[in-house]
Amino acid sequence: MIFELRYFTGTGNSLRILKTCQEVFLDAGHKAEISEINLAERESMEADIIGFCFPVYAFGIPRICRKYLGRFNRFADRQKVFAIITAGNSKESGFSVIECERMLKKKNCEIIYSGVVQMPINWITSPVPPFPPPKEEAVEIIRKGVERARGMANDIIIGISHLHIFAYPLSYTKFRFYKDYLLFRYMGIQNMWRTFKTYDTCNGCQVCAMVCPTQSITITDNRPVWKSTCEQCMRCVNLCPQEAIFQTMGGDTRGKHRYFEPHFHPERAR
Ligand SMILES: Cc1cc2nc3c(=O)[nH]c(=O)nc-3n(C[C@H](O)[C@H](O)[C@H](O)COP(=O)(O)O)c2cc1C
Repeated sequence: MIFELRYFTGTGNSLRILKTCQEVFLDAGHKAEISEINLAERESMEADIIGFCFPVYAFGIPRICRKYLGRFNRFADRQKVFAIITAGNSKESGFSVIECERMLKKKNCEIIYSGVVQMPINWITSPVPPFPPPKEEAVEIIRKGVERARGMANDIIIGISHLHIFAYPLSYTKFRFYKDYLLFRYMGIQNMWRTFKTYDTCNGCQVCAMVCPTQSITITDNRPVWKSTCEQCMRCVNLCPQEAIFQTMGGDTRGKHRYFEPHFHPERAR
């Protein structure tokens, strides 16, 4: 079979999970290409199965992933797809899988597999805990996540279908769940770029601007300035060598663990 795999990632979790699937497909003798979603190009993919992997942001998928899924052409023939979401807590994936499924169905896709993989949380500027875990804890969470992804990829190869079932996160009231989802989706993401700031320890090294997956950071007067295209992916905050980036409105990052998936080396940072 031929697989085409597409991901968006802030800190490498979704890439690691989709790469794990790719390895399983290749080991089983299939063809599998992987690449990052690209809004600049209209996709025309020819594959037996197309797979997507995105992180969950405030119970939904990142705005850039919504745009991407909304933009590609409707398939003329029914296209088999799978969708995997990485989450800091597999029970708090909210509407993320449903959002993917709905958008893909509109493009004449048959969802053959959907699911959530728990990976370390990367939302270091979240106004409330949990925050990224210490390294040893992260390594163990990744190990389990990769194992789960292998299982999923094997199921996909042998044709075991599985569709994610939505459940409200138990640790949230329904009111707070909808409030967080709707606020982030319709107000937060459009405005939160304004709240990124640097502590005095920023030395103007520009790594943040080099690694940003959406090129949303420019350097002015030797300091980063964020643009409205920022997806809140946390790559800049977690990779800043000076640990100098924070967000106002409760997004202090002093004394917190930094997190990025250990295999993750964003190309533009090299
Ligand atoms: C802005 C933001 C919001 C997030 N919201 C959630 C959430 O609602 N539920 C959850 O389980 N994890 C949430 N997370 C954690 C990420 O989904 C998780 O760490 C994911 O694996 C990151 O993937 P990546 O490294 O591919 O970007 C959030 C992360 C960020 C940056």
